[in-house]
Amino acid sequence: METVVSGIRPTGNLHLGNYFGAVKSFLQMQNEYNCLFFIADWHSLTTHPHPENIRKSVRTILAEYLACGIDPEKATIYIQSDVREVAELYLYLNMNAGIGELMRTASFKEKARKQLHIGQESGENDTDEMQKEIFKEDNKHSVSAGLLTYPTLMAADIIIHKAVKVPVGKDQEQNMEMARRFARRFNATYGVDFFPEPASFSFGNKALKVPGLDGSGKMGKSEGNAIYLVDDEKTIRKKVMKAVTDSGPTVPNSTKPEPIANLFTMMEIVSSKETYDYFNEKYNNCEIRYGDMKKQLAEDINAFCAPIRERILDIAANEEYMAKVARAGAEKARQSAAKTLREVREIIGFRN
Ligand code: TRP
Repeated sequence: METVVSGIRPTGNLHLGNYFGAVKSFLQMQNEYNCLFFIADWHSLTTHPHPENIRKSVRTILAEYLACGIDPEKATIYIQSDVREVAELYLYLNMNAGIGELMRTASFKEKARKQLHIGQESGENDTDEMQKEIFKEDNKHSVSAGLLTYPTLMAADIIIHKAVKVPVGKDQEQNMEMARRFARRFNATYGVDFFPEPASFSFGNKALKVPGLDGSGKMGKSEGNAIYLVDDEKTIRKKVMKAVTDSGPTVPNSTKPEPIANLFTMMEIVSSKETYDYFNEKYNNCEIRYGDMKKQLAEDINAFCAPIRERILDIAANEEYMAKVARAGAEKARQSAAKTLREVREIIGFRN
């Protein structure tokens, strides 16, 4: 059976965008592949080196994953920091990773710029500019080596299980390219055919891009427009009723402006076809009342979220169960990782 690995950083709660964009596909994949889903708590140190309460953030995601239906009987669910073998592989991979290639990755540049408080300059020289900033005396520890080597750690996460498929969003493409490169380089360096090259695995049309309801773009926690699975009914209603609309179409069958199209997209995702068609027809007849539409949408979102929310609260209250799941997941993940690492040590020439 092919191995699938995916990780999520424990920053905040899962929202509808996470659910329809990723988690829903995980639910199907756990039936078809050897799946390992993990919570990337080490990765969160690259941007939040002093986490306020990392255990709590990890538990939150764990409870939410489980509440969504990720099944510890089918998939291995674990916490990255429970599998120390990953750190050892990360060390070996770093020995053959170039500072130059790591510095050129888009996500490093973006996050480093933020940490240096410099704006986004376009142009070919932006890597040079940024490097100049990094090397300034005052900035010498503004950007961590951990942030630089984020892609190495991610590569270690993946290839330690010899995963061949990695379900991730488009924004992870460059990290995936690095993971393949590091796998290839290990093989070439030691003259072995050991690590397979992991492929990004897009969910095809099953992955839905969930829009935000604030006018434009997609739903995201950093966009501040997310509806969280754990949100209660009142919160959901408030968020939906605040959604951006306009004064309505005046010409029948007009194209929908983005904020309106987003409302309809959301409705397509969570409401019944009848409901969608009803409001779509109203729109096309220029009879739409957005207040009614939003009320309905809020109700349907709540109907979707309510059972998940209940399970989240149940699971989160059951510390014993959560600990048991994490322990069992760690054990399975460690077995898989340790096996790879024994071979890696052998290949490089270390004693086991
Ligand atoms: N970089 C991923 C993200 O930000 C999280 C991640 C860490 C990951 N390690 C991984 C994803 C390994 C897939 C496989 O979303």
